[in-house]
Amino acid sequence: MLLNIAVLPGDGVGPEVTDQAVGVLQTIAAAFGHEIKLTRHDVGGIAVQKCGIPLPEDTLRACLSSDAVLLGAVGGPGFDSLSRQLRPEAGLLRLRRELGAFANLRPAACLPGLEECSPLRQDVVAGTDILIVRELLGGLYFGEPRKTEGSPGQRVATDTMHYREPEVERIVRVAFELARNRRRKVTSVDKANVLECSRLWREVVTHLAGEYSDVHLEHMYVDSAAMAMVSRPADFDVVLAENMFGDILSDEAAAVVGSIGMLPSASLGGRIALYEPVHGSAPDIAGKGIANPIGAILSVAMMLRHSFHLEHEAEQVETAVASALSSAHRTRDLARAGRPAISTSEMGARITTEIRERASVAEHLAAHR
Ligand code: IPM
Ligand code: MN
Repeated sequence: MLLNIAVLPGDGVGPEVTDQAVGVLQTIAAAFGHEIKLTRHDVGGIAVQKCGIPLPEDTLRACLSSDAVLLGAVGGPGFDSLSRQLRPEAGLLRLRRELGAFANLRPAACLPGLEECSPLRQDVVAGTDILIVRELLGGLYFGEPRKTEGSPGQRVATDTMHYREPEVERIVRVAFELARNRRRKVTSVDKANVLECSRLWREVVTHLAGEYSDVHLEHMYVDSAAMAMVSRPADFDVVLAENMFGDILSDEAAAVVGSIGMLPSASLGGRIALYEPVHGSAPDIAGKGIANPIGAILSVAMMLRHSFHLEHEAEQVETAVASALSSAHRTRDLARAGRPAISTSEMGARITTEIRERASVAEHLAAHR
């Protein structure tokens, strides 16, 4: 199979973790006989520096002519004073919109052996396996009007939370469909005691739930969901949320399962999907070679599964990650205080070695069958 992938390393730790993820892709391609075509393009702050805008036209064109997009991270403290349109984040938001990527999947599972990495008690976090399904193209992120008016001292800022029924409906369906392949439970998060958008959200969810009678549905206010996620995280299966609530809860879920460095994401909906780790550019550790590449590497697993339907290859990546971790190889975010940590590239190398070894054992077994 030919895998035609646009790679957008971006800013901060983005390039470091993306290099490791690309290494995993190449290892998978070599081990399973796929051909990959990779092209690299600028996005975010680096694109602002080189071209003056965070999503240059040739980057967008390259994404639109690929089969899937792998993105590192965007943003950094150097760009804070830019106007909204020129901020690195604006490039990512436009890319999501251009790709029609309305469904953002963020799995947060506590891998066996990593219970000790959570700030929570091990008995609380054990068994946690959450899939956050975040609406990605609506709500406060895109609603109009959005502006700041008036003179200094008297300024008024406006953002608009806006949802159309079909926008809610399509993400609700994604959540219920995914729940069917999991533990068949959806927790829909809203603030229906205060917000109009949330009341519409809750009505649409409740109505559609009738078509998924095999899936258990519960509604939760976002404040209460935030609390439940730290007090009994293992109770959640699929968490369905609008854009902003999903953004916030996914960082919380990441911390609960040990490190935000571990979380991958897939943004689906259009013909071409976007894959990126949840962690962001982490400017404080950028360039030091200590970032955890697993979020980016597991994003590659999601790409193999969702864009290329290579389920076996996706599982090989996930198994390799789990066994690299079980042999006590930890990047700094996961290492116990006082214990040695391995670098970004050492973790990448551990994982590619695991993949290669497993593939050659499988080949050996097949040859002697
Ligand atoms: C994320 C990030 C982005 C978001 C930023 C960088 C625009 O925080 O993917 O969670 O808010 O969606
Ligand atoms: Mn976020």
